[in-house]
Amino acid sequence: MNTRTTSPSTTAVLDSPDRSPVSVSPAPVPDAAAPARRPACHPSTHRDAGGWTPACAMHRLLPGRGVAVLLRGGRQAALFLLTDGSLHAVGNIDPSAGAAVMSRGIVGDRGGEATVASPLLKEVYSLTDGRCLNVPGLTLPVHPVRVEDGVIHVGPAGADSPGI
Ligand code: FES
Repeated sequence: MNTRTTSPSTTAVLDSPDRSPVSVSPAPVPDAAAPARRPACHPSTHRDAGGWTPACAMHRLLPGRGVAVLLRGGRQAALFLLTDGSLHAVGNIDPSAGAAVMSRGIVGDRGGEATVASPLLKEVYSLTDGRCLNVPGLTLPVHPVRVEDGVIHVGPAGADSPGI
């Protein structure tokens, strides 16, 4: 896994679907009048907004693939863009193995419920509420996700609006 940390004003995305480093800016700026290299966002202005972490630009994600995001406070989330366009974030630590691997899990569907399977031991977790569907008692923390100006932000586990 790539472990890249950027300056304190940007969020570290620990890995990306193509395993290349990901940075938050510059992101595409649709405003034709804007300078060509103007950053599309300014994560530092959001660092204290209730514990939310700017993760990465929306266009960096590949549907069906996850990325690991280093959250404020040092925890990690696994962020997924699904093929239906929805975003989900859960804890990146596999509850069974204790390894930071959930961003590399396999997304799927169980009876209409979006899921991610651990790449190690194959437990399957709901991306909606984090519960393990095949091993009772195991759960992943669920993080809320929102998009501002094309940048995905991940909130603290247990906050409102998990997945969008
Ligand atoms: S980082 Fe620019 S809107 Fe959130």
